[in-house]
Amino acid sequence: MIIAANLKTNLTREKTNKYISEVESFLREKNISEEVLVFPATSSLIAHSGAVTIGAQNAYPTIKGAFTGEIGYEQLEEFGIKTILIGHSERRHVIGETQEELVKKFDFYKELGFKIVYCVGEPLEVREAGFENMMEYISKQYEGIDTSYENLIIAYEPVWAIGTGLTPTSEDIVAIHGELKKKSLAPLLYGGSVKVTNAKEVLALEGIDGVLVGSAALYAEHFCTMCEYAQSLNK
Ligand code: PGA
Repeated sequence: MIIAANLKTNLTREKTNKYISEVESFLREKNISEEVLVFPATSSLIAHSGAVTIGAQNAYPTIKGAFTGEIGYEQLEEFGIKTILIGHSERRHVIGETQEELVKKFDFYKELGFKIVYCVGEPLEVREAGFENMMEYISKQYEGIDTSYENLIIAYEPVWAIGTGLTPTSEDIVAIHGELKKKSLAPLLYGGSVKVTNAKEVLALEGIDGVLVGSAALYAEHFCTMCEYAQSLNK
């Protein structure tokens, strides 16, 4: 399974280093062989080799150039980063990235062979408009995306469940994942208020290949426990 931590705009470089070494020692100690990804803030990216794969939360589709405030491939290459998160709800809805921009980013990093965690998910008003409308909305987030890309991982994250403590019911998650599995054979993660208290249940659901965790992953200990749950499920 794939267990991913999105640290967002949290933790300093020093704290991130500590976090990664804690997770790394835990995985070694417990002999955990699941795929573990950690996405630190851009200023905390580090060159790291071990069981934990470090990924970028964002980067501009450029090798280098005049894109104030952004980083490009050259800045990722310095740290050997070959994994990127694209389409996260906060990039779409807070920063305002359009599907067109995300497709450009996707294609650029795909060409470079990056592992891409591509996020999709609906806001509350769309969810309330019924299953069909919701699936139509999510389908649009697949437009222009090469769903057969070999290094693709998809994360389904309902916007209303991110950082709110709310989660869809298990039945809902299974139903949506079932639909999304028809669109791509890529591993499919669930994200949105995954915590130590519900991770085991979520990970065990049919059609779930892992989780993408935000707030609860900020505690290395909690994140490690989720990695251990994934291992124990032996999926
Ligand atoms: P959350 O965030 O776990 O805090 O809901 C998940 C995410 O944004 O990927």
